[in-house]
Amino acid sequence: MPLTWAGLLAAVTTAAGCDGTQSPLNPAGPQARDIATLTWWFFVISFVVYAVTMSALVWAMARRRRPSDDDPETSRRLARVIGSALAVTVVTLVGLSTYSVVNGRRLTPPAHAALTVDVVGHQWWWDFQYRDPPGAWVHAPNELHVPVGVPVRLRAVSADVIHSFWVPNLIGKRDLVPGIITHTWIQADRPGVYRGQCAEFCGDQHAHMALYVIAEPRDRFTDWLSRQRASAAEPVTATARHGRDVFLSGPCVVCHTIRGTGAGSRVGPDLTHVGSRATLAAGTLPNVTGHLAGWIADSQSIKPGNHMPPTRLSPGDLHAVVAYLETLQ
Ligand code: CUA
Repeated sequence: MPLTWAGLLAAVTTAAGCDGTQSPLNPAGPQARDIATLTWWFFVISFVVYAVTMSALVWAMARRRRPSDDDPETSRRLARVIGSALAVTVVTLVGLSTYSVVNGRRLTPPAHAALTVDVVGHQWWWDFQYRDPPGAWVHAPNELHVPVGVPVRLRAVSADVIHSFWVPNLIGKRDLVPGIITHTWIQADRPGVYRGQCAEFCGDQHAHMALYVIAEPRDRFTDWLSRQRASAAEPVTATARHGRDVFLSGPCVVCHTIRGTGAGSRVGPDLTHVGSRATLAAGTLPNVTGHLAGWIADSQSIKPGNHMPPTRLSPGDLHAVVAYLETLQ
């Protein structure tokens, strides 16, 4: 099939990340829109400055010397031109700086937010905690669900090293620092799934520290939150029941929580509703049976250096644990 110019352009822009996925130039919320507008103004003005400067340079290099260049009047005219160019440069820089500062102030958290979510960065995954009401905490690893059209306050901190929370379609980078709570906010103006990424180098698997913001209409968000508040489903098949027994009698409980069972550790991600999530290992793999089994059997071959050790389960036990985890919707 002949490759058209339009097809080639589409392929190149997609490969360059210009298809709008995880792009600050495809804003879906007020903060990202302000940042995108600022970016375009800087780009256009910088381009004009560059074009004018290069044109003047080429003109000066091509111009031949004339006898009139030695006239005092020519020198005075030249001084006026240079002075004017200097003044335009200063006004442009001050204008851009002022616009940038004013724009940055608009990114501060709003006084009232519909919801507050705690964000904890770990090597190399995200824990999103919904703490309202007290006593009904929900941990949603790597998936931040938000209602559409309302500001959501984020209270962010790191559990180990510095990470940076970045969802380009919605919000600029915000560092997560151990021991310091950072306040920021996020708002999505249209439903969708927006990919985010840790934006501060945080160790071997920094590149595999993705997250997804899932923006939904209010009623669907409320449904999701109430499902997440529920304890883990009781397994109904013999295989799933065996899987739960293997899980609870093995090393899994040292790190993970499954609410409603005896597993209650907060070292690794909460698995109470692991079956409802779209990906495994912070966006590294789609959450399907084969990948889940592979991850449990030997996560180190998939994401070397992550803090989950190999489990050494027999094939039968591995199959049963996978069957059990998949029922945790
Ligand atoms: Cu966390 Cu990079």
